[in-house]
Amino acid sequence: DWNSENVIEQQVTAIRAQVGTGRVICGLSGGVDSAVAAALVHKAVGDQLTCVFVDHGLLRQDEREQVEQDYVASTGVRLVTVDASDVFLSALAGVTDPEEKRKIIGREFIRTFERAQADLVAEAAADGDPIRFLVQGTLYPDVVESGGGTGTANIKSHHNVGGLPEDLNFELVEPLRTLFKDEVRAVGRELGLPEVIVSRQPFPGPGLGIRIIGEVTRERLELLRKADAIARHELTAAGLDGEIWQCPVVLLADVRSVGVQGDGRTYGHPIVLRPVSSEDAMTADWTRLPYDVLARISNRITNEVEGVNRVVLDVTSKPPATIEWE
Ligand code: XMP
Repeated sequence: DWNSENVIEQQVTAIRAQVGTGRVICGLSGGVDSAVAAALVHKAVGDQLTCVFVDHGLLRQDEREQVEQDYVASTGVRLVTVDASDVFLSALAGVTDPEEKRKIIGREFIRTFERAQADLVAEAAADGDPIRFLVQGTLYPDVVESGGGTGTANIKSHHNVGGLPEDLNFELVEPLRTLFKDEVRAVGRELGLPEVIVSRQPFPGPGLGIRIIGEVTRERLELLRKADAIARHELTAAGLDGEIWQCPVVLLADVRSVGVQGDGRTYGHPIVLRPVSSEDAMTADWTRLPYDVLARISNRITNEVEGVNRVVLDVTSKPPATIEWE
């Protein structure tokens, strides 16, 4: 019968059997799957594992620190962070089309990861100790989905760390292949991972890049990051995290409206709140958040985030609207 201690024990044994004394690499996204997969592998083979975290500059406030500090402190994994925000921002300059943004971010992500990987492989080979394994946080539903071949309509091109190309030089290590999401969380807790990572709500691979409607710039990212941090903070403080699946915060960067703030006229951007309730993200309903919580978020964002003078609520289910705006 299922419990997370048994799973950990079984996986540690299986990973040791597969990997032996070989070296292993793992890409971390900041999300729960890659974090738990890496922690299991680290428990099994310690410093034979090196993790790589690509900061694409499209992360939310504190996410990089959660990985670099909290996650590393709780697991002891060896981590290489690649700061690639300049590369991503220049590649995204002038781009407003959602699919084009997704393609660029996916492409740059793979390039950046492969470069980091090549550096590590070269370093290890120079030590006479080649890296032969790549960890993937593949879950049971992913296995079923890709094997089932039901040909579901592809509405948006998805990007995530799990979708890295299977480099032919690597053998895959997939310690979560038999698990569902809630089981992965239970294993993560048992392994002592930070709660911010273990209970993190879904966040798309392309990050804030697809939550800025219009061109992605450093200034717009900073603005959205502040608004998003306020919304998340207030939702958590109100004890509502368990009630919502996720709450994208979106910047309508190409829209401006007139406002009055202090004793002057403003001409600023709207921020959209998109709280949704869902079981599996295939369908969703907009969450009926308490008015006082909405009021607090709206007041704080308009007072604290310069350039924003209006907060609007998305009251559309999925379908017809998707959860993300792009
Ligand atoms: P949509 O917008 O299609 O989103 O209703 C459904 C769920 O998927 C997440 N999402 C992504 N996750 N890479 C990801 O890992 C992506 O490219 C991506 N796009 C959307 C979205 O946040 C929601 O949970």
